[in-house]
Parts: sequence; structure tokens; C-alpha cells
Amino acid sequence: MSNSKNLIDTEQRLGAHNYKPLDVVLTRGEGVYVWDTDGKRYLDCLSAYSAVNQGHCHPKILAAMVEQAGKLTLTSRAFRNDQLAHLYEELAALTGSHKILPMNSGAEAVETAIKAVRKWGYEVKGVPEGKAEIIVCADNFHGRTLSIVSFSTDPDARTGFGPYTPGFRTVPFGDADAFTAAINENTVGALIEPIQGEAGVIIPQPGYFKRVRELCTENKVTLILDEIQTGLGRTGKLLAEEHEGIEADVTLIGKALSGGFYPVSAVLSNSEVLGVLKPGQHGSTFGGNPLACAVARAALRVLTEEGMIENAAVMGDYFLEGLRSIRSNIVKDVRGRGLMMAVELVPEAGGARQYCYTLKDRGLLAKDTHENTIRLAPPLVITKSQVDWAVEQIEKTLA
Ligand SMILES: Cc1ncc(COP(=O)(O)O)c(C=O)c1O
Repeated sequence: MSNSKNLIDTEQRLGAHNYKPLDVVLTRGEGVYVWDTDGKRYLDCLSAYSAVNQGHCHPKILAAMVEQAGKLTLTSRAFRNDQLAHLYEELAALTGSHKILPMNSGAEAVETAIKAVRKWGYEVKGVPEGKAEIIVCADNFHGRTLSIVSFSTDPDARTGFGPYTPGFRTVPFGDADAFTAAINENTVGALIEPIQGEAGVIIPQPGYFKRVRELCTENKVTLILDEIQTGLGRTGKLLAEEHEGIEADVTLIGKALSGGFYPVSAVLSNSEVLGVLKPGQHGSTFGGNPLACAVARAALRVLTEEGMIENAAVMGDYFLEGLRSIRSNIVKDVRGRGLMMAVELVPEAGGARQYCYTLKDRGLLAKDTHENTIRLAPPLVITKSQVDWAVEQIEKTLA
């Protein structure tokens, strides 16, 4: 039995089956490529759900991690460390945020924002205690914690996990009229993904977010954009909100904030919202630890200094053009922004997963989502010739 077969069998036997991975066992990564235990190379077109925007094992992030790991890894926030202030300063300069709260996973950043915005609603907006409402969108994906799955509309994510956290009102994504109708005097926030990633890279009509921004301002509703997947260069801008010409009140980032080395997330906010949190009201043992901060600082530095965001814009356009040129009667739609792309297949194609397996055999890793969609999100360091090669494999697979 091959080593990879053994490893897969052991995972199946001992691990909870809460994932159904493609059966490829990876052991090494560099830039856009990963290698399996048999030495076969793949072009990674998932980037760990956009956490590895900077490419696998970026040497400068690695160096920062190794250096910091040898000095100081964790102090808890009971004491201060000499990395956190620098991360704050650099993130603030990059994003224009006035207050920052570091956490670890993306879901924790979402939970943090919900807590802060509810408290802001009671203390600043004057909403009666226990009545705060947050508007969310159908088909959202914000993570896996109980409060987050409480407002998921995906039965797989939600069913069986009740009782659910109340206080959320769901509207269709991209529908400004429905958004307007959902606002009332108890609405404290709106939590939205600029592009719905897990739902299959759904981009709303132009003007939707401008209207949402206006409605939030007019009604004193905190606009929270979840940029955990769309942020940090993925769509060809630092933040996807830039495509819409708006600014959120609260922005959530994670994933690529560490370039895939470590779980690091953050809530970026105006002063008013995060200003309501006082000592003892929120925290995390690992949030803001020096290792995470050093890694995040390096991850942000390489993202900007090495032109990755600009490359995502140029290569994204080029990749999409290539995908749109594919002649195949099983392709229903090709969409994307920057290097966040999707190919939706017709239902008669029999599901996207089998095509992901064919792509894997051809040396390209991609992930199916929502039955008929192949999601494509390579590291932002991808080159033109690598895009050409990828489009060729996809074309041969779908032809
Ligand atoms: C938009 C969005 N928000 C939140 C999350 C949750 O992040 P994490 O898996 O780090 O908790 C994800 C993860 O895919 C995401 O895409």
C-alpha cells in the first residue's frame, strides 16, 4: 500500500468526517506549486481558500516566522509584546483603520465584530438591551461557530445545531430594496461579503454596495464587510470594497493576513465601534501574539512590496479572458474579479467534483463548490505562462 493510501485510511479511521477532501496528500509547497507524497507537482488553484495569496512558503514570511519563533512566541495579552504595536501601525497605515482587534481564525473575527457592533448598538445608538438586529445575506458564508451558523441559509451548515442565536435578519444578496425593508430602529449592523465566495463567487450588480453604504449611513447602521476571503489582494485591490468605491465601518480580514503560515485575523474599525470594548469584555489567549504579529507584518510587506495586488488584477483579467474563450457545452457561466474566479457548469454535467478530479490528474488543484461550480483562486504570484498552462488544462478537461 502506498504511503498516501495509508495516510488517507488513517485519516478516515481516526478523524471526524467533517470534510471530504480530494484524495491528494500534499507534502511540500513553493509559490504556486504543491507536491504530493509521490513527488507529483500540482498548480494550486485554491490557495487554501485564499489564505496563501503570497504563494506557498514565501521565503520572507518564513524567515520572519523562524526569527520570531526563536525569540518570543506567546505572552498572552496579560503583558505587552514588541510586535503588536508595529502590526497595528502598519495595518492602520495600509487600510486607514483607526482601531484594530487581532484574533486568530476568520470566524473569531466575525464573532468579535458581532459582539462589538451589538454593544455599540446599545451604548451608542441607544437600542434597547437585547433587541439588536444585524442584517445578513442569504447564501452567506462567515464561518462555522454557533452564532454564525445560526444565520447561515445553507442547510448543511445549519441543520441540527440549534438552538440558534437570535438577532439576525436575512435578505437576498444584491437586493437593495430588500435591504431597505429590513432596516428598523433596532438594526445595529449589516454583515456582508463583498463577493460571496463559498456561494460560488457571486458578484452583485454595480451600485448595490453604494446604495447599501448610503442606507447604512442614513440609518446609523454599522456596515461590516467580511473581506476574509476577498481581502488582501485577492480581487486585484487590497480590499474588494475599493471596486465599489465605498468604505466599510468595520472590515474583517484573516486568511492571507498570515500568508498561510499561521491563523491570524483582525477586526479593522472606526474608533466608535471597537471603542465600546473595555478590559475583560473580549479577548483570546493567542490573539495578537508576537509570532502571529511578526508573520502578519511580513505577509503584508511582501503583498505590497512585491506587486502581488497589481499582479492579481492583471493576471485575473488574463485568466478570466482565457476561461471565457473556452468552448464547451457544459460551461454555464464564467465569472470573477481579480484572481477570485469560478466556472459554473450546467446541471447536466453531473457535478463539478468529477472535473476537479480530472484537473488533479492533469496537475491542477481546484475545488468544487455548491455542486456545479469549480472555484479557481491561485496564489497572487501566478505568471502569464502558468495561467496559459492552467487554462489549457481546464479547456481539455471541460471540452
Ligand atoms: C468570507 C469568509 N468569512 C469567514 C470565513 C471563516 O474563516 P475561518 O475558516 O478562518 O474561520 C471564511 C472562510 O472560508 C470566509 O470565506
